[in-house]
Amino acid sequence: MPTVYIKTYGCQMNERDSEAVAAQLAAKGYGLAPSEALADVILLNTCSVRDMAEQKAIGKMQSIAAEVRRERPNVVLGFMGCMAQSRGRQLIDQLPDVDLVLGTQKFHRAADYLDDILAGRREKVVDVGGETGSEAAIKEHILEGMRGLNGQIRARSATAFVSIMQGCNQYCTFCIVPYTRGQERSRTIGDIVAECRQLAEAGVKEITLLGQIVTSYARRELKPKDGKSGFVQLLEAVHAIEGLERIRFTSPHPKGYGDDLVDAYDRLPKLCESAHLPVQSGSDRMLQLMHRGYTLERYIGIVDKLRKVKPRMGVTTDIIVGFPGETEEDFEQTLSLAREVQFDNAFIFKYSPRKDTPAAVMPGQLPRQIREERNARLLEVINEIGARRYASRVGEKVQVLVEGPSKRNPARQMGRSRCNKIVVFEDSQDQRGRLMDVHIQRAGSFTLYGPLS
Ligand code: 5AD
Repeated sequence: MPTVYIKTYGCQMNERDSEAVAAQLAAKGYGLAPSEALADVILLNTCSVRDMAEQKAIGKMQSIAAEVRRERPNVVLGFMGCMAQSRGRQLIDQLPDVDLVLGTQKFHRAADYLDDILAGRREKVVDVGGETGSEAAIKEHILEGMRGLNGQIRARSATAFVSIMQGCNQYCTFCIVPYTRGQERSRTIGDIVAECRQLAEAGVKEITLLGQIVTSYARRELKPKDGKSGFVQLLEAVHAIEGLERIRFTSPHPKGYGDDLVDAYDRLPKLCESAHLPVQSGSDRMLQLMHRGYTLERYIGIVDKLRKVKPRMGVTTDIIVGFPGETEEDFEQTLSLAREVQFDNAFIFKYSPRKDTPAAVMPGQLPRQIREERNARLLEVINEIGARRYASRVGEKVQVLVEGPSKRNPARQMGRSRCNKIVVFEDSQDQRGRLMDVHIQRAGSFTLYGPLS
């Protein structure tokens, strides 16, 4: 049977989609190759959120076409995911070596289309249509003993991602996602719980529920029950699964942080005290132009409430610098927000105009130099605050879920604390999947170190 190599760009949703496609292909008898040089089919799972991510994937495909295909003309080349969705057939016009373009609602069709192309029944396939029910099609996992995306046999895994919904209805003015992932569609609680239970039975201890805006989960389908949103109802159902030790989710939207969710951190002991809460800007004027749907006051209020319930709450965020019309004063408000909230870490993005988004044609587009400069200034503040916050954990005992040997040094084990900080400790024995207490003695760059306690 032919072998497949999948390379993934972008977010955790993309990683999850790639894994599910790989598992689906493996179930149909395809092999998973450790590198593109050894694969009969090469698929790039793409990201569109910034131009750089698109250019990387296009550049990669050009070099594959030039190098791999010249030597092995029968290799099948495909794009899938967000850029495939937004560019469709254009990708084949631009790169005629590409055989398959698979949109974000069509991942589960990969095997059928590849079968057709490999058997010579079809030469090129472009499918970027919508498909009812596709939100429930990402559910297969690569478990212990199966071959993974890197071609290696998978060891038991302590953590797993579960996709609970697809799409986004927020329409932030900078963001391409509503156009690449479509409208919000949620899986049922029963379906999600069944998948999580299977993972727990396979030894998974921590599950991260994934979606573009998970706090909007089943907003239309599930009426609030005892003041609890559909998302909190889902958290409760997953929480009841035996064997599961920890629950996380990403990404929420600040508007979804009602008191029911704040309260869930208090009531549900498996729900880890960390929140990735994208703020995007520290200026109310920018937040409005971005169509974020909250004010700074509301955002800070949420963080305060969370820290009141869980003082050790890890809070991380996403921030865009250089959004159209952002003045020095707006930017300084972002710097002061970072200082006020004291984020544990933040992902900083230089604004990148995206096709068909309102912000791309707003007045006041800023030159690259200003975006670069603000990026560097904010990064310095974020790193300084992060270093202080990590250092403040020295002397504490933290619970770590061990994910496996550290990649850099196999004589060490790596895991995460409940507040989502990477923790490394000395132990040459593979402690994967165990919950262990580590006495923190030292903080490095966004990592904590210490002996077992
Ligand atoms: N330019 C820069 N950053 C962006 N993001 C989304 N769209 C853009 C864009 N056009 C960032 C946001 C989001 C993260 C995943 O990517 O901060 O939270």
